[in-house]
Amino acid sequence: MSDRFPEGFLWGAATAGHQVEGGNISSNWWHLETQFPGLERSGDACDSYHRYEEDFRLLADQGFNAYRFSVEWSRIQPELGWFSRAERDHYGRMMDGVRDMGMQPVVTLNHFTMPQWFHAEGGWEGPRALDHWQRFLEEVSPAVADVEHLITFNEPNMLAVMAAAAKRAAVGEHRGLPAPDEATGERLVQAHHAAIEILRASTNCALGWTVACQAFTPVEGHEDAYEAHKRRWEDIYLEAGRGDDFIGVQAYGSQPVGPDGPVPADPNLPDNTLTGIAFRPDSLAIALRNAWDVGGHVPLLVTENGIATSDDALRIRYIDGALSGLLDVLNDGITVRGYLHWSLLDNYEWGHWAPTFGLVAVDRTTFVRTAKPSLAHLGAIARRGRLS
Ligand code: FCB
Repeated sequence: MSDRFPEGFLWGAATAGHQVEGGNISSNWWHLETQFPGLERSGDACDSYHRYEEDFRLLADQGFNAYRFSVEWSRIQPELGWFSRAERDHYGRMMDGVRDMGMQPVVTLNHFTMPQWFHAEGGWEGPRALDHWQRFLEEVSPAVADVEHLITFNEPNMLAVMAAAAKRAAVGEHRGLPAPDEATGERLVQAHHAAIEILRASTNCALGWTVACQAFTPVEGHEDAYEAHKRRWEDIYLEAGRGDDFIGVQAYGSQPVGPDGPVPADPNLPDNTLTGIAFRPDSLAIALRNAWDVGGHVPLLVTENGIATSDDALRIRYIDGALSGLLDVLNDGITVRGYLHWSLLDNYEWGHWAPTFGLVAVDRTTFVRTAKPSLAHLGAIARRGRLS
C-alpha cells in the first residue's frame, strides 16, 4: 500500500464565477436573488473579478499546481446578439495568470448560471437553447483552446434539481429539494454531447463534466430502491460521461437510501456541517468508486470536495479523512488525476453567506483575504505528495 499520490497529481482549489466575482448583473441568479426574499444577495461577492491575482497567489505560494474557476456566459454574452470581446479577453488573462504562477487552470464553462435573456427564453428547456449554447461555445473556444482540463457543465444533476424546484415554485410549492427534472436532464446531456463535439474540433483540452455525487448507500434489504434513486440522481449523468476524457467527481456527504428515499441525517450530531449534512469525509471514496464503475473507467478528477464549517480544525480532519480514502481508491487501481478542494474562498453559497467552505476567509467589506490553517495544511500535503 503506497502512501504517495501519483507523480503529476493535480492539487488545488475551486471556485465559481457567480460565487466569487461580484456584480454579475446580467446573470439569471442576480435576478433570482432580487425575486426571492429568502435569498441573500451576491452583491460584490469576493470581488474576485478584480482581485483574481491575489486569489491565484494564495494557492501558488503554498505550492499548489491547479486552480479551478468558471467563466460567466452572461458577461461574455450579456444580450442576445452581443458578444463582448473584452470580457472574453478578461477570462483569457485569468488563464494566463494562473499559468504564469506555475499552475494549471481547470476551467468550467457553465457553473449553474445562465444569461438572464437565456433564462427568459425558457432556460435549458427553451426552444433555441442548444443553438444559443453552441454559438457561445464557438465564441469562447479560442480563449480556452489550451486549457488542460475543460469542464462543460458543473453538476448537471443539480441544475436539473434547480429546474424542478423552479417548476414547483411556479405553482406555489416551496418544500424540500425535488428530484432532478428529467426533461432538463435530457437536454443537458444533449448540450454536453454537443459541446464535446464542438470543443474536440476547436480545442486541445481534455473534456468532461462534473457530477454531484451523494455517496448513496443502501439500507439493508432495500437495494432496489437504492439503485433506482442513485440512477435518477446521478448515474445517468455519470453514464453520459463515458466517452469523455475525464469525469469530475464532487462529494460532500453520504446518504443511506431506504424504501422512502434518502434517510434524513440526525440533526443533532455534534459535528454536523453548516449546511446540515453530517460529517462524512468517507463520502469521497464512496463517490469515486461509484463514478469509476458507472462511468466505465473514465479517468476521474476530484473537482470539488469540502465542508461548510466555521471550525477550521474540523475542516483539517475532513481533508485528512477524505484524502486517506482517496489513497485507498488509488491503491485499488482507480485512476484519479487530482484533488481540487471546494473552496479556495468563503464565498456566496447560492442564496446564503453563512455556510463557509473556504480555505481562506474573506472580509465582505474590505475584501481582505485571510488564509486559514487548512490552506497551509493542504498545501503541505500537495508539496510532499503524501499524507503522513
Ligand atoms: C456544489 C456546487 C458549488 C458549491 C458547493 C458547496 O454543489 O457545485 O458551487 O455550492 O456545492
